[in-house]
Amino acid sequence: MTEPVVPASEYYTDEFAVDPYPTFAELRENAPVCLVKGPRFDSYLISRFDDAKAALTDPRLSKDLYGPGQHYLRIFGPNSEALNRNMLNSDPPEHSRLRRIVSQAFAPRRIEALRPRVAQIVDELLDKVAPRGEAELMHDFAIPLPMKVISELIGIPKADHDQVLDWTQVIRTSGSSKNPERDRAAVQEAQLRLHHYLADFVQAKRARPADDIVSDLIAACDRQGTLSESELVTTTFLLLFAGHQTTADFLGNATVALLTNPEQLALLRADPELLPAAIEELLRFDGPLPVASPRIAAEDVEYQGVRIPRGSVVGVVINAANHDPAHFADPDRLDLTRERGPHIGFGHGVHYCLGVSLARMEAQIAISALLHRLPDLRLAVPAEELRRLPAASPFRGLLELPVRF
Ligand code: HEM
Repeated sequence: MTEPVVPASEYYTDEFAVDPYPTFAELRENAPVCLVKGPRFDSYLISRFDDAKAALTDPRLSKDLYGPGQHYLRIFGPNSEALNRNMLNSDPPEHSRLRRIVSQAFAPRRIEALRPRVAQIVDELLDKVAPRGEAELMHDFAIPLPMKVISELIGIPKADHDQVLDWTQVIRTSGSSKNPERDRAAVQEAQLRLHHYLADFVQAKRARPADDIVSDLIAACDRQGTLSESELVTTTFLLLFAGHQTTADFLGNATVALLTNPEQLALLRADPELLPAAIEELLRFDGPLPVASPRIAAEDVEYQGVRIPRGSVVGVVINAANHDPAHFADPDRLDLTRERGPHIGFGHGVHYCLGVSLARMEAQIAISALLHRLPDLRLAVPAEELRRLPAASPFRGLLELPVRF
């Protein structure tokens, strides 16, 4: 069967940026595997839950973007190797080697020990906004919280936090200005500077190790000879970027979901024990990574009778799968009491989110503090008017979240 083809102009619309779920429903129903023409590259989108899970563990759908075929060129463009050749863009056994050593440094014990510090950062950020009666929660809270947490975990000096944050924000918000040329140049510049910064940073850590994850990684590599210098840099970049950007967007999306579903918010206020389940449901309902990072068909594969030719880019639409009525009753309804279902908001298979415990912990502390410290929290503009990342962004999140309380 030939695939339905969706032109970029019909897919990446302004309406899609505000609410992609009607489009996802249509894809799931009528074109569960379709070819979407993208602004930079075309990709086959897989949107049903069972197919999504199968695709995320399908060894024929490779993550090795830097291997033969050099697929990274289409996806990240040239010069991306210095930051992006990391575990997320590799297959086993490379992937296993890269992930194993980081998992050791990311031990649950170290993450759990962070809990009081995360609560302290949350309190410090909210101390600043609480007396004001209004805030822009992305920049005042949702972005700086995970950024501070991951920067401290990695060991980035405090004096550099703002600069590093600026560079990562250029990458996160790319495509949101009216000038794509300038946007692309700004992203390249930010990536280059971040690469130089992280390369120097890793060297400095080698000279003066401290109690942080990068020092642990360097020590483990010195003992076992497992990661090269450039792999240390790409791994640090992945932790830095994956470690704050998704969490920041999730906090924004979750806050909007709660504020626009007051009966659910009331349930959560009445029963704080609901919090862990609420976080999972909020992630299912409107997750920050709508499409898993790109896979490449290493051979011709077939899903739903559609042939996906070798060399094609494949996108697993996590947010469509998480609204599949075959798995979630009344899927477009936020229901914090929903029986915990097997959502794929943190991915599935070997690339399952490495930072899941940290993400859950940060989200629980942050959402709970927001509700307790900012009484009568409400949106300052209607939800449809919130400024969002552009439709073609790989991330789903807000540029601004103005609130009053
Ligand atoms: C991978 C989601 C927070 C580190 C992933 C994947 C998803 C995901 C869906 C798999 C991507 C794919 O298969 O293409 C999320 C969400 C988060 C979050 C929704 C917050 C709500 C974090 C945090 C860290 C982190 C706090 C901390 C460092 C990683 C890493 C990978 C990953 C290193 C790559 C794992 C691998 O390739 O083996 N995440 N993540 N994430 N995540 Fe997260």
